[in-house]
Amino acid sequence: MNKVVLAYSGGLDTSVAVAWLKEQYKAEVVTLTVDLGGGSLREGVERRALSAGAAKAYVVDARETFVSKYVWRALQANAMYQGAYPLATALARPLLAQLLVELAQKEGADAVAHGCTGKGNDQVRFDVAVHALDPGLKVVAPMRVGMGLTREQSIDYATARGIEIPVTKASPYSIDVNLWGRSCETGVLEDPWVTPPDDAYAWTVSAADAPDAQDIVIGFEGGIPVSLDGEMLSGVALVERLHDLGAQHGVGRVDHIEDRLVGIKSREIYEAPAATILHAAHRALEGLVLSKEQLRFNRMVADELAQIIYDGLWFSALSRDLRTYTLSSQRVVSGEVRMRLDHGRASVVGRRSPLSLYDKSLATYDEGDAFDHAAAVGFIEIFGLPLRVEAARHGAVGKHHGAAWTWTDPLLDGLPTTISS
Ligand code: ARG
Repeated sequence: MNKVVLAYSGGLDTSVAVAWLKEQYKAEVVTLTVDLGGGSLREGVERRALSAGAAKAYVVDARETFVSKYVWRALQANAMYQGAYPLATALARPLLAQLLVELAQKEGADAVAHGCTGKGNDQVRFDVAVHALDPGLKVVAPMRVGMGLTREQSIDYATARGIEIPVTKASPYSIDVNLWGRSCETGVLEDPWVTPPDDAYAWTVSAADAPDAQDIVIGFEGGIPVSLDGEMLSGVALVERLHDLGAQHGVGRVDHIEDRLVGIKSREIYEAPAATILHAAHRALEGLVLSKEQLRFNRMVADELAQIIYDGLWFSALSRDLRTYTLSSQRVVSGEVRMRLDHGRASVVGRRSPLSLYDKSLATYDEGDAFDHAAAVGFIEIFGLPLRVEAARHGAVGKHHGAAWTWTDPLLDGLPTTISS
């Protein structure tokens, strides 16, 4: 290994990793720090990377790419892992891997490195994505191959080498942030019975402290959110605005027991105000403009794609095919959704679209009803035909017309099968 590009957060662990990689492999280390919003870019990263011995320190703002190429794709598909986690951390990994690979190729490096441990999902996502993009690159994870130091040891290691230590105070949690969400784990949260302490949350207020309810209107075009209260906004600006609004109303706290890819259950606290609002709004709009068959099929795609994203298989063939299907299904997902932010909840309170499949003259129970009530009789006749055949041949439920055998339906056990007058 001659030259390695390290994914550098600017924290203590990755700062130590710069020096460790240099010493261990006698390799030149180039760092890459990616700003994905949400406070992921730390003050003075470049300076710290160089103080740790990096030959070069790159800082890239990838927020717009993250939103348009990853976050929107997941939103359009309604991808939510185990119905709870909007996948902020997971979605960022393939983009980080892509940027690492690009920089490694540009710099002529033969390896990339990351600061993940050997126990989580992130290491899998990095390794798999890097090798999907460039199978020739080595991937090194110092934490997995001997660099495991305690916080005290890391501070000593850094001090001994004149590495600038970030001034943030030690967090009792392991945290990952980007504009789509904040992931928080470990510490007291490892007991699933423990109520998350206030300090596990950094973005949102508690629902009890939220101000009076507020309604907002989100506009979508082709399944992508484009406006807030009628004002057109870029992806990043829209997410940031919804983040602030949701956070202020205590929206988007998630307490989840999650099944990790490496086979363990873990307790995760997420804050994802913008994602929570947008997922609910997007699903509501789909309900108005898509057919019931599309909605049913989309739920399968949502689950499958969520698993793929969670498992770090973004660059797989199935991932690409499902995303292509999703894009096609979104062609009519345009319109507006009104959301009410109310003490921790984001509820849909209205939706409209020029492409709506909702027809008031068909749905109404009032005057102007265009639905043909008499035609319902013929429809039910045909629709119920197979069930009548089944009853005639196999016996009506609870009875056994002339059958040579008797069988008591366990589902009806104990229930009267005939009504005596
Ligand atoms: N459990 C989440 C996931 O696998 C979040 C991981 C957070 N990463 C971290 N280094 N704290 O996507």
